Amino acid sequence: MFRALVVDKNSKGHQCRFEDWQEDQLPSKPVKVQVQYSSLNFKDGLAVTGKGKILRSYPMVPGIDMAGTVIGSDNEAFKPGDPVVLTGAGLGEDYCGGYAEQVNVDPDALIKLPDGMSLHNAMSVGTAGFTAMLAVAALENAGVLPDEAPILVTGAAGGLGSIAIAILSRLGYSVTAVTGREETHQYLRNLGASEIVSRESMEQSARPLEAQKWAGAIDNVGGPILSRVIAETHINGAIASCGLAASHELSATVMPFILRAIKLIGINSTHVTRAHRLAMWKRLAELFDDGFWAGITETIRFEQVPEYAEKITNGQVRGRVVVQIKDD
Ligand SMILES: NC(=O)c1ccc[n+]([C@@H]2O[C@H](COP(=O)([O-])OP(=O)(O)OC[C@H]3O[C@@H](n4cnc5c(N)ncnc54)[C@H](OP(=O)(O)O)[C@@H]3O)[C@@H](O)[C@H]2O)c1
Repeated sequence: MFRALVVDKNSKGHQCRFEDWQEDQLPSKPVKVQVQYSSLNFKDGLAVTGKGKILRSYPMVPGIDMAGTVIGSDNEAFKPGDPVVLTGAGLGEDYCGGYAEQVNVDPDALIKLPDGMSLHNAMSVGTAGFTAMLAVAALENAGVLPDEAPILVTGAAGGLGSIAIAILSRLGYSVTAVTGREETHQYLRNLGASEIVSRESMEQSARPLEAQKWAGAIDNVGGPILSRVIAETHINGAIASCGLAASHELSATVMPFILRAIKLIGINSTHVTRAHRLAMWKRLAELFDDGFWAGITETIRFEQVPEYAEKITNGQVRGRVVVQIKDD
Protein backbone atom coordinates (compact mmCIF):
# COMPACT_ATOMS: atom_id res chain seq x y z
CA MET A 1 0.00 0.00 0.00
CA PHE A 2 1.19 3.53 -0.67
CA ARG A 3 -0.24 7.02 -0.32
CA ALA A 4 -1.51 8.90 -3.38
CA LEU A 5 -3.29 12.17 -4.07
CA VAL A 6 -6.08 11.19 -6.43
CA VAL A 7 -8.19 13.41 -8.69
CA ASP A 8 -11.54 12.07 -9.81
CA LYS A 9 -14.28 13.56 -11.94
CA ASN A 10 -17.76 12.12 -11.84
CA SER A 11 -21.40 13.15 -11.38
CA LYS A 12 -20.35 14.95 -8.16
CA GLY A 13 -17.89 17.07 -10.17
CA HIS A 14 -14.14 17.50 -9.52
CA GLN A 15 -12.81 15.73 -6.44
CA CYS A 16 -9.32 15.54 -5.00
CA ARG A 17 -8.40 13.40 -1.99
CA PHE A 18 -5.61 11.33 -0.41
CA GLU A 19 -6.07 7.56 -0.75
CA ASP A 20 -4.15 4.39 0.06
CA TRP A 21 -3.47 2.61 -3.22
CA GLN A 22 -2.33 -0.88 -4.11
CA GLU A 23 0.37 -1.36 -6.70
CA ASP A 24 -2.07 -2.88 -9.20
CA GLN A 25 -3.91 0.47 -9.37
CA LEU A 26 -0.88 1.95 -11.14
CA PRO A 27 -0.30 1.39 -14.86
CA SER A 28 1.99 -1.51 -15.68
CA LYS A 29 5.27 0.05 -16.90
CA PRO A 30 8.88 -1.15 -17.05
CA VAL A 31 10.42 0.96 -14.27
CA LYS A 32 9.04 1.24 -10.72
CA VAL A 33 10.23 4.17 -8.62
CA GLN A 34 9.79 5.03 -4.95
CA VAL A 35 9.12 8.76 -5.01
CA GLN A 36 10.98 10.96 -2.53
CA TYR A 37 10.06 14.40 -3.86
CA SER A 38 7.75 15.94 -6.40
CA SER A 39 7.23 19.61 -7.21
CA LEU A 40 4.43 22.07 -7.87
CA ASN A 41 4.10 23.63 -11.31
CA PHE A 42 1.35 25.89 -12.65
CA LYS A 43 0.00 22.89 -14.57
CA ASP A 44 -0.17 20.83 -11.36
CA GLY A 45 -2.15 23.66 -9.78
CA LEU A 46 -4.66 23.50 -12.62
CA ALA A 47 -4.91 19.68 -12.36
CA VAL A 48 -5.36 19.54 -8.58
CA THR A 49 -7.88 22.39 -8.37
CA GLY A 50 -9.73 21.35 -11.54
CA LYS A 51 -9.29 24.88 -12.96
CA GLY A 52 -7.79 23.48 -16.17
CA LYS A 53 -8.25 20.32 -18.19
CA ILE A 54 -4.86 18.68 -17.68
CA LEU A 55 -5.68 15.06 -16.81
CA ARG A 56 -6.47 12.73 -19.71
CA SER A 57 -8.52 10.21 -17.69
CA TYR A 58 -9.87 9.60 -14.18
CA PRO A 59 -9.15 8.62 -11.46
CA MET A 60 -5.64 10.00 -11.91
CA VAL A 61 -2.67 10.88 -9.71
CA PRO A 62 -1.41 14.34 -10.79
CA GLY A 63 2.17 15.60 -10.39
CA ILE A 64 4.18 16.16 -13.58
CA ASP A 65 7.56 15.83 -11.83
CA MET A 66 9.16 13.24 -9.57
CA ALA A 67 12.56 12.33 -8.13
CA GLY A 68 13.21 9.08 -6.31
CA THR A 69 14.88 5.69 -6.30
CA VAL A 70 14.32 2.76 -8.66
CA ILE A 71 12.78 -0.20 -6.81
CA GLY A 72 12.19 -2.49 -9.79
CA SER A 73 13.12 -2.48 -13.47
CA ASP A 74 12.62 -4.51 -16.62
CA ASN A 75 14.85 -2.08 -18.51
CA GLU A 76 18.58 -2.68 -18.63
CA ALA A 77 19.43 1.03 -18.38
CA PHE A 78 17.97 1.25 -14.86
CA LYS A 79 18.51 -0.94 -11.81
CA PRO A 80 17.17 -0.94 -8.24
CA GLY A 81 18.87 1.72 -6.14
CA ASP A 82 19.42 4.18 -9.03
CA PRO A 83 18.44 7.76 -8.14
CA VAL A 84 16.27 9.05 -11.01
CA VAL A 85 14.31 12.09 -12.19
CA LEU A 86 11.37 12.48 -14.54
CA THR A 87 9.74 15.72 -15.65
CA GLY A 88 6.76 15.95 -17.98
CA ALA A 89 6.52 13.44 -20.84
CA GLY A 90 2.94 12.55 -19.84
CA LEU A 91 3.65 11.92 -16.13
CA GLY A 92 0.72 13.18 -14.07
CA GLU A 93 -1.29 13.90 -17.23
CA ASP A 94 -1.54 10.76 -19.39
CA TYR A 95 -0.61 8.35 -16.59
CA CYS A 96 -0.28 8.44 -12.79
CA GLY A 97 2.22 11.01 -11.61
CA GLY A 98 4.48 12.22 -8.84
CA TYR A 99 1.91 12.92 -6.10
CA ALA A 100 2.20 9.33 -4.87
CA GLU A 101 4.80 7.32 -2.98
CA GLN A 102 5.25 5.09 -6.05
CA VAL A 103 5.19 5.65 -9.81
CA ASN A 104 5.56 3.17 -12.66
CA VAL A 105 7.15 4.82 -15.69
CA ASP A 106 8.52 4.28 -19.18
CA PRO A 107 12.31 4.62 -19.46
CA ASP A 108 12.27 7.00 -22.48
CA ALA A 109 12.23 10.30 -20.57
CA LEU A 110 13.58 8.94 -17.28
CA ILE A 111 17.09 10.15 -16.47
CA LYS A 112 19.63 9.24 -13.81
CA LEU A 113 20.14 12.03 -11.30
CA PRO A 114 22.78 14.35 -12.83
CA ASP A 115 26.21 14.33 -11.16
CA GLY A 116 26.43 16.77 -8.26
CA MET A 117 22.67 17.23 -7.96
CA SER A 118 20.51 15.98 -5.06
CA LEU A 119 16.99 14.57 -5.48
CA HIS A 120 15.67 17.66 -3.68
CA ASN A 121 17.53 20.06 -6.01
CA ALA A 122 16.29 18.10 -9.02
CA MET A 123 12.75 18.94 -7.94
CA SER A 124 13.71 22.59 -7.39
CA VAL A 125 14.52 22.39 -11.10
CA GLY A 126 11.43 20.36 -12.07
CA THR A 127 9.50 21.11 -15.23
CA ALA A 128 9.75 24.86 -14.60
CA GLY A 129 13.56 24.87 -14.48
CA PHE A 130 13.93 22.41 -17.33
CA THR A 131 11.66 24.60 -19.47
CA ALA A 132 13.60 27.73 -18.51
CA MET A 133 16.78 26.02 -19.75
CA LEU A 134 15.05 24.96 -22.99
CA ALA A 135 13.90 28.55 -23.52
CA VAL A 136 17.37 30.00 -23.01
CA ALA A 137 18.85 27.40 -25.38
CA ALA A 138 16.20 28.34 -27.96
CA LEU A 139 17.23 32.02 -27.75
CA GLU A 140 20.89 31.03 -28.12
CA ASN A 141 20.05 28.92 -31.17
CA ALA A 142 18.17 31.89 -32.64
CA GLY A 143 21.38 33.93 -32.40
CA VAL A 144 20.48 36.16 -29.44
CA LEU A 145 23.81 37.13 -27.87
CA PRO A 146 24.62 38.44 -24.38
CA ASP A 147 26.19 41.68 -25.60
CA GLU A 148 22.99 42.92 -27.25
CA ALA A 149 19.99 44.70 -25.66
CA PRO A 150 18.35 43.24 -22.51
CA ILE A 151 16.30 40.05 -22.43
CA LEU A 152 12.80 40.46 -20.99
CA VAL A 153 11.40 37.75 -18.70
CA THR A 154 7.66 37.90 -17.94
CA GLY A 155 5.93 36.17 -15.01
CA ALA A 156 9.31 36.78 -13.44
CA ALA A 157 8.71 35.77 -9.82
CA GLY A 158 7.13 32.41 -10.75
CA GLY A 159 9.12 29.18 -10.99
CA LEU A 160 10.00 29.31 -14.67
CA GLY A 161 10.63 33.06 -14.59
CA SER A 162 12.91 32.92 -11.54
CA ILE A 163 15.13 30.20 -13.02
CA ALA A 164 15.18 31.85 -16.47
CA ILE A 165 16.45 35.10 -14.93
CA ALA A 166 19.16 33.26 -13.01
CA ILE A 167 20.33 31.27 -16.06
CA LEU A 168 20.42 34.33 -18.32
CA SER A 169 22.26 36.39 -15.77
CA ARG A 170 24.88 33.65 -15.18
CA LEU A 171 25.42 33.45 -18.94
CA GLY A 172 26.13 37.18 -19.06
CA TYR A 173 22.85 38.49 -20.45
CA SER A 174 21.33 41.69 -19.10
CA VAL A 175 17.85 40.82 -17.81
CA THR A 176 14.72 42.91 -17.32
CA ALA A 177 12.00 41.27 -15.21
CA VAL A 178 8.24 41.86 -15.51
CA THR A 179 6.32 41.28 -12.29
CA GLY A 180 2.96 42.19 -10.81
CA ARG A 181 4.31 41.87 -7.27
CA GLU A 182 6.30 44.77 -5.84
CA GLU A 183 7.38 42.68 -2.84
CA THR A 184 9.42 40.44 -5.18
CA HIS A 185 11.66 43.23 -6.52
CA GLN A 186 14.62 42.52 -4.21
CA TYR A 187 14.27 38.76 -4.83
CA LEU A 188 14.38 39.36 -8.60
CA ARG A 189 17.43 41.62 -8.30
CA ASN A 190 19.16 38.93 -6.21
CA LEU A 191 18.49 36.44 -9.03
CA GLY A 192 20.22 38.76 -11.48
CA ALA A 193 17.57 41.11 -12.92
CA SER A 194 19.10 44.53 -13.50
CA GLU A 195 15.78 46.27 -14.32
CA ILE A 196 12.20 45.63 -13.25
CA VAL A 197 9.11 46.63 -15.22
CA SER A 198 5.58 46.53 -13.81
CA ARG A 199 3.11 44.00 -15.16
CA GLU A 200 0.56 46.82 -15.44
CA SER A 201 2.74 48.86 -17.81
CA MET A 202 3.27 45.83 -20.05
CA GLU A 203 -0.48 45.15 -20.18
CA GLN A 204 -1.16 48.47 -22.00
CA SER A 205 -2.26 47.87 -25.56
CA ALA A 206 0.60 48.18 -28.06
CA ARG A 207 0.86 49.53 -31.61
CA PRO A 208 2.07 46.98 -34.18
CA LEU A 209 5.60 48.35 -33.87
CA GLU A 210 6.81 50.05 -30.69
CA ALA A 211 10.30 51.33 -29.83
CA GLN A 212 12.77 48.41 -29.95
CA LYS A 213 13.78 47.46 -26.41
CA TRP A 214 14.51 43.74 -26.12
CA ALA A 215 17.05 41.54 -27.90
CA GLY A 216 14.92 38.62 -26.82
CA ALA A 217 12.30 37.53 -24.34
CA ILE A 218 11.06 34.55 -22.36
CA ASP A 219 7.31 34.85 -22.01
CA ASN A 220 5.38 32.89 -19.40
CA VAL A 221 2.07 34.72 -19.51
CA GLY A 222 0.70 35.18 -23.08
CA GLY A 223 -2.18 37.62 -23.77
CA PRO A 224 -1.70 41.41 -23.99
CA ILE A 225 1.78 41.26 -22.42
CA LEU A 226 3.06 38.95 -25.16
CA SER A 227 1.46 41.26 -27.76
CA ARG A 228 3.49 44.16 -26.35
CA VAL A 229 6.68 42.07 -26.15
CA ILE A 230 6.35 41.20 -29.86
CA ALA A 231 5.93 44.88 -30.74
CA GLU A 232 8.97 45.91 -28.64
CA THR A 233 11.46 43.26 -29.77
CA HIS A 234 14.58 44.35 -31.66
CA ILE A 235 15.23 43.60 -35.29
CA ASN A 236 16.36 39.92 -35.59
CA GLY A 237 15.30 39.31 -31.98
CA ALA A 238 13.59 36.17 -30.69
CA ILE A 239 10.88 35.41 -28.14
CA ALA A 240 10.48 32.02 -26.46
CA SER A 241 6.78 31.53 -25.77
CA CYS A 242 6.51 29.20 -22.77
CA GLY A 243 3.33 29.90 -20.87
CA LEU A 244 -0.17 31.25 -20.56
CA ALA A 245 -0.43 32.32 -16.89
CA ALA A 246 -2.42 35.39 -18.02
CA SER A 247 -4.13 34.12 -21.17
CA HIS A 248 -3.91 31.62 -24.01
CA GLU A 249 -4.91 34.36 -26.43
CA LEU A 250 -2.58 36.44 -28.58
CA SER A 251 -3.34 39.50 -30.65
CA ALA A 252 -0.56 40.50 -33.03
CA THR A 253 0.15 41.75 -36.55
CA VAL A 254 2.67 40.29 -38.98
CA MET A 255 4.59 43.58 -39.07
CA PRO A 256 7.25 42.74 -36.44
CA PHE A 257 7.88 39.44 -38.26
CA ILE A 258 8.29 40.87 -41.75
CA LEU A 259 9.74 44.32 -40.94
CA ARG A 260 11.97 43.33 -38.01
CA ALA A 261 12.48 39.62 -38.77
CA ILE A 262 11.68 38.68 -35.20
CA LYS A 263 11.08 35.02 -34.31
CA LEU A 264 8.38 33.68 -32.00
CA ILE A 265 9.57 30.25 -30.81
CA GLY A 266 7.22 27.80 -29.12
CA ILE A 267 8.68 25.88 -26.18
CA ASN A 268 7.30 22.46 -25.26
CA SER A 269 8.98 20.68 -22.35
CA THR A 270 7.01 17.45 -22.80
CA HIS A 271 8.26 16.35 -26.20
CA VAL A 272 12.04 16.67 -26.05
CA THR A 273 14.56 14.23 -27.52
CA ARG A 274 16.54 12.24 -24.97
CA ALA A 275 19.84 13.78 -26.10
CA HIS A 276 18.52 17.34 -25.69
CA ARG A 277 16.92 16.44 -22.34
CA LEU A 278 20.25 15.14 -20.99
CA ALA A 279 22.14 18.14 -22.33
CA MET A 280 19.73 20.58 -20.62
CA TRP A 281 20.00 18.78 -17.25
CA LYS A 282 23.81 18.74 -17.54
CA ARG A 283 23.87 22.49 -18.09
CA LEU A 284 21.55 23.09 -15.13
CA ALA A 285 23.72 20.93 -12.85
CA GLU A 286 26.84 22.85 -13.93
CA LEU A 287 25.31 26.32 -13.62
CA PHE A 288 23.97 26.21 -10.06
CA ASP A 289 24.96 24.97 -6.60
CA ASP A 290 22.92 23.93 -3.54
CA GLY A 291 22.80 27.50 -2.21
CA PHE A 292 21.09 28.77 -5.34
CA TRP A 293 18.37 26.09 -5.28
CA ALA A 294 17.77 26.63 -1.54
CA GLY A 295 17.29 30.35 -2.15
CA ILE A 296 14.43 29.94 -4.61
CA THR A 297 12.68 26.92 -3.06
CA GLU A 298 10.00 26.37 -0.44
CA THR A 299 9.56 22.74 0.66
CA ILE A 300 6.05 21.67 1.63
CA ARG A 301 4.54 18.49 3.08
CA PHE A 302 2.55 16.15 0.85
CA GLU A 303 -0.66 17.15 2.71
CA GLN A 304 -0.18 20.80 1.69
CA VAL A 305 -0.42 20.15 -2.07
CA PRO A 306 -4.15 21.09 -2.40
CA GLU A 307 -3.58 24.36 -0.48
CA TYR A 308 -0.54 25.30 -2.59
CA ALA A 309 -2.30 24.25 -5.82
CA GLU A 310 -4.86 26.95 -5.09
CA LYS A 311 -2.07 29.45 -4.37
CA ILE A 312 -0.10 28.82 -7.56
CA THR A 313 -3.18 29.26 -9.76
CA ASN A 314 -3.79 32.59 -7.99
CA GLY A 315 -0.22 33.80 -8.73
CA GLN A 316 0.71 33.66 -5.01
CA VAL A 317 3.73 31.34 -5.18
CA ARG A 318 7.25 32.76 -5.47
CA GLY A 319 10.01 30.69 -7.06
CA ARG A 320 9.78 26.91 -6.77
CA VAL A 321 7.83 24.59 -4.47
CA VAL A 322 9.23 21.12 -3.71
CA VAL A 323 6.84 18.53 -2.28
CA GLN A 324 8.23 16.08 0.28
CA ILE A 325 6.39 12.89 -0.69
CA LYS A 326 8.26 10.50 1.63
CA ASP A 327 10.20 11.37 4.79
CA ASP A 328 13.99 11.38 4.35
N1 LIG B 1 5.75 25.21 -22.46
C1 LIG B 1 6.03 24.36 -21.49
O1 LIG B 1 6.46 23.24 -21.71
C2 LIG B 1 5.81 24.81 -20.08
C3 LIG B 1 6.53 24.22 -19.02
C4 LIG B 1 6.38 24.76 -17.73
C5 LIG B 1 5.48 25.80 -17.53
N2 LIG B 1 4.77 26.31 -18.57
C6 LIG B 1 3.85 27.42 -18.40
O2 LIG B 1 4.62 28.56 -18.03
C7 LIG B 1 3.87 29.39 -17.15
C8 LIG B 1 4.67 29.60 -15.88
O3 LIG B 1 4.79 28.36 -15.19
P1 LIG B 1 5.30 28.33 -13.67
O4 LIG B 1 5.26 26.90 -13.24
O5 LIG B 1 6.53 29.14 -13.55
O6 LIG B 1 4.08 29.09 -12.96
P2 LIG B 1 4.10 30.09 -11.72
O7 LIG B 1 5.17 29.73 -10.77
O8 LIG B 1 2.70 30.17 -11.25
O9 LIG B 1 4.50 31.49 -12.40
C9 LIG B 1 3.61 32.22 -13.20
C10 LIG B 1 3.87 33.70 -12.98
O10 LIG B 1 3.12 34.43 -13.96
C11 LIG B 1 2.71 35.67 -13.42
N3 LIG B 1 1.25 35.74 -13.53
C12 LIG B 1 0.32 34.98 -12.90
N4 LIG B 1 -0.93 35.35 -13.26
C13 LIG B 1 -0.78 36.38 -14.13
C14 LIG B 1 -1.69 37.20 -14.85
N5 LIG B 1 -3.02 37.04 -14.74
N6 LIG B 1 -1.19 38.16 -15.64
C15 LIG B 1 0.16 38.33 -15.78
N7 LIG B 1 1.07 37.60 -15.12
C16 LIG B 1 0.61 36.63 -14.31
C17 LIG B 1 3.17 35.69 -11.96
O11 LIG B 1 4.44 36.34 -11.93
P3 LIG B 1 4.65 37.77 -11.18
O12 LIG B 1 4.02 37.62 -9.84
O13 LIG B 1 6.12 37.96 -11.15
O14 LIG B 1 3.95 38.79 -12.04
C18 LIG B 1 3.37 34.22 -11.64
O15 LIG B 1 4.30 34.04 -10.62
C19 LIG B 1 2.54 28.67 -16.93
O16 LIG B 1 1.59 29.17 -17.84
C20 LIG B 1 2.87 27.22 -17.26
O17 LIG B 1 1.73 26.50 -17.66
C21 LIG B 1 4.92 25.82 -19.83
